[in-house]
Amino acid sequence: MMDWPESVGFVGAGNMAEAIARGLLAAGLRPDQIRASDPVEARRDYLTRELGVETLPDNAEIAANSEVVVLAVKPQHLAAALEGLDPSGRPLFLSIVAGCTSAILARLLGAEARFVRSMPNTPALVGSGVSAIASDSGASAADLDRAERILGSVGRVVRVRESLMDAVTGLSGSGPAYAYLFIEALTEAGVREGLPADTARELSARTLEGAARMVNETGEHPAVLRERVSSPGGTTVAGLEALEAGGLRSAVLAAVRAATARSRQLGEG
Ligand SMILES: NC(=O)c1ccc[n+]([C@@H]2O[C@H](COP(=O)([O-])OP(=O)(O)OC[C@H]3O[C@@H](n4cnc5c(N)ncnc54)[C@H](OP(=O)(O)O)[C@@H]3O)[C@@H](O)[C@H]2O)c1
Repeated sequence: MMDWPESVGFVGAGNMAEAIARGLLAAGLRPDQIRASDPVEARRDYLTRELGVETLPDNAEIAANSEVVVLAVKPQHLAAALEGLDPSGRPLFLSIVAGCTSAILARLLGAEARFVRSMPNTPALVGSGVSAIASDSGASAADLDRAERILGSVGRVVRVRESLMDAVTGLSGSGPAYAYLFIEALTEAGVREGLPADTARELSARTLEGAARMVNETGEHPAVLRERVSSPGGTTVAGLEALEAGGLRSAVLAAVRAATARSRQLGEG
């Protein structure tokens, strides 16, 4: 994979920008290779204090002096944030703005601009995110590699066709909240069975974390792993039967479908 960029600028110095900047520093970039702009002085001071990176109120300058510009503002602020930008250095724009399509980016940045659209998720804040980048919207192979490298500093990266970005949003974008709900429910169940709340929460969250690692690290199909722990007539099959009877699988299918539809709707609106 290609080298790190010499300089990365962030337009918008919020939570996701901070997470990615931390990832880049952990991966070996120097603080003087990273800059960020944000309208809020307290936020700028915080980021400079925490990460030692230069921060400024002016977005225009970020674009003029960075090899890669990460667009990390809320969708409703994007158009204003890009006003007066100086893209004469022809930076690569890496957008993490939810719902902002390549067509919108091309309109806002100009037809000549180089950009990659992506969708990270919040576990990026602890370096365990998963991001999707849109692979078919005109970016060069080198620019896709570079985007992948940057987002790879806060987790894993997959490539999908842009038409699937709403599905990504409904699955991994919203997915952490589904997992939190499951952890919450498991915890409550543990408490009902007599476990102290803290112990129940730790057992629940670590169980999900461990199971996810089993899937990722063994490469086994989850159904195979599930069968392996389901001895005939045992405790696990009793639990699984109750989950199936309660409609867990169909509830999850409906959840991702609803979130995907909502993402599509927001993108059109
Ligand atoms: N959080 C996630 O899990 C996640 C996942 C995927 C994608 N995203 C996307 O990532 C983007 C950033 O999310 P976030 O959670 O990091 O949001 P955030 O914490 O609100 O960060 C956005 C930052 O941009 C600043 N800003 C607003 N207007 C600006 C302007 N004109 N110029 C420069 N900076 C400006 C905001 O300042 P103010 O506080 O003054 O508004 C804020 O500090 C969003 O588009 C979001 O949809 C987020």
